[in-house]
Formats: sequence, C-alpha cells, structure tokens
Amino acid sequence: MLMMRTLVIHGSKYGSTEEIASAISMVLGPSRCCRAEEFRPELREFELVVLGTPIYKGMASPAIWNFIREGRDWLSDKPVALFCTCLNRDDGKRNIDQLQELLGGEVIASRVFDGRMQLERLDEADFLGMEVFSKRTGTPFESVDHMDMEAVAEFALELKRERDTRSPGMDRGDLRRLIEAFLASHKICTLTSGHGNRVRATPIEYNYRDGSIYMLSEGGEKFAHILLNPNVSIAVYDEYVNMATIGGIQISGTASIVAPDEEEYQEILKARGLRPERIASLSITLNVIRVRLERAEFLYAKLKARGDQISQVYDFPGAEL
Ligand SMILES: Cc1cc2nc3c(=O)[nH]c(=O)nc-3n(C[C@H](O)[C@H](O)[C@H](O)COP(=O)(O)O)c2cc1C
Repeated sequence: MLMMRTLVIHGSKYGSTEEIASAISMVLGPSRCCRAEEFRPELREFELVVLGTPIYKGMASPAIWNFIREGRDWLSDKPVALFCTCLNRDDGKRNIDQLQELLGGEVIASRVFDGRMQLERLDEADFLGMEVFSKRTGTPFESVDHMDMEAVAEFALELKRERDTRSPGMDRGDLRRLIEAFLASHKICTLTSGHGNRVRATPIEYNYRDGSIYMLSEGGEKFAHILLNPNVSIAVYDEYVNMATIGGIQISGTASIVAPDEEEYQEILKARGLRPERIASLSITLNVIRVRLERAEFLYAKLKARGDQISQVYDFPGAEL
C-alpha cells in the first residue's frame, strides 16, 4: 500500500478557511484540497479526511453539513479530523461538537481557528449579517484578522504524527536494521540546526553508532544553534535516479557536545581512524557533536520488494516525542 493520502474538504466563502485547508493539505501530503462542491466519488479512496468550515451566523457551512450528511456511510469507515474558522470560539466549539455528532464515526482531532473578516469584501447580505454578529457578540463592527498560521501548522503537524502512527508499519526490528545499514553505508549528511529565525544546513561527515550520529567539527554557526536549541534534523540520501531506486532518510534528534575528557570522545576519534595523540597535538580543539536519534522517516524503494510500504517511520526507543 502507498502512504496514507489525505483529502481536505472545505467550505470557505472569503478565503480564510481555504488558506488553512490548503496549509494542512500541504503538510499532510500526499493529499488533495478542494471545496465540498468539487468532490468526486473517486476521492472516497483517500485514507484520511479533514473537513474544514467557516462559521456564518452561528452555523457551519451548509456545503460541509450536507457533505457529511450525504457521505456518512463512507466517512464512518475512516479517520476524520475537523476544524472550523470563526471569530467567536464558542460558536466554533459548538459547531465542532454538532458536526462530530452528525459524523458518528471516529474523529481523530478537531480544532477551532480564529478567522479573518474584511468588511470591504463582503457582499450586501454578509455586510448586514456581520452587523448582526457584532451586536450579538458585542464586538466592534470592523475588519479583523486573527489568522494564526502557527496554530494551523501545529495542528497539521499533530495530525501528521497521528497519521504516521496509523500507517501500517513493518516489523520494528527489521526496520531498525535497514535504517542502520542505510546510515552505515553513507558518510555525509546534512545537519540542520537553528534557533529563533536563523537556520543552517551543514553538509558534514558522520558516524552512526547505537542510536546516535556523531560528527567532528572545528566550529561554526551550528554550535550557536545547538547550544541554544538542541533540536536538530538530519538528512541522508542517495543520488536521485528514479522512483524505483529512491532512498533517503530524514531524522529528528537532540544534539549535544561531547567533552574531550569523555570516553565517548576518544571512541569517536578512534572510529574515524584518528589517533588521540595526533588530535591532542593540534593547536585547535576538535569538537564532537552527538545527535541522539528520536525519529527516522525512511523513504526506501527497496522496501517494495519485501512487500512493505516504501515510506516508514521509526521511533527510537527512549525518545521523548
Ligand atoms: C456574515 C458573517 C457572519 C458571521 N457570523 C459568525 C458567527 O456567527 N460566529 C463566528 O464565530 N464567526 C462569524 N463570522 C466570522 C467568520 O466565521 C470568519 O470571518 C471566517 O474567517 C470566514 O471564513 P472564510 O474566509 O473561509 O469564508 C461571520 C462572518 C460574516 C461575514
């Protein structure tokens, strides 16, 4: 089976719900994002469904409402996530509850997002409707933009994580062995570190050993990041030829610096074929970075021949995710 595909259906009128739906769809890809009216029966084959609606006059979009009513049978067999976009969170929560009840099946996640309303874009009926909304909720009758794309990205990442734990995985021991063999058969990785709004991708030689990746470095910007934010990401990949041979791994992990007086420091030097006396005689310090691996996302065409999905996720034991 291929990776779980996500269908994102929305009922946006002025675009804010569509922006959120589209962002969620991109994070969860392979996916398709469309309006409820654009739905086609073949999209029922998608394995995960996300439904998003704006709230107008206290109600979810009729298009989403009808979509659920008409699709209850096939939707009830799938994991579904719900979100709504609104200016009054109580309205949002109430509607999520109602939609969840209408669905009847399994709702794996739901979220209320703050929306956006630009008075100058509203048609006449909505302009009046907005006046009513302002009076009812006691909010000023003016344009507002409370869109929070960070909250959207967080929700999308939560969903992605949930999806990945649901994808049919292969035997954990076999997967770990294959990941370790892949890491052992390569030498150079891209280490990505960052803090605040700075990021840095560093091509660097590495050694893999027992759940950790080690790198030697004289110094540089990555250390500023690692000291302030130990969360790093590592990519190792084969040269792309075609999809039939594709291979690559994306890792999340925690970085720390191994001090020269630690036994591990000497062991890493030895593994690199560097004599401790030679290193000690250098005028500069050679720093050792250790990244404890937490999660590996492995895309490996050769898994297909074993009858497994080519995309697998492995969580290293002991990692706090
Ligand atoms: C006519 C009108 C009525 C609205 N009524 C509500 C409401 O009852 N409750 C609420 O939380 N938000 C209400 N809103 C705010 C919308 O939910 C918000 O602007 C949302 O972001 C719109 O989504 P869209 O851009 O995808 O159409 C209303 C907006 C308009 C224009």
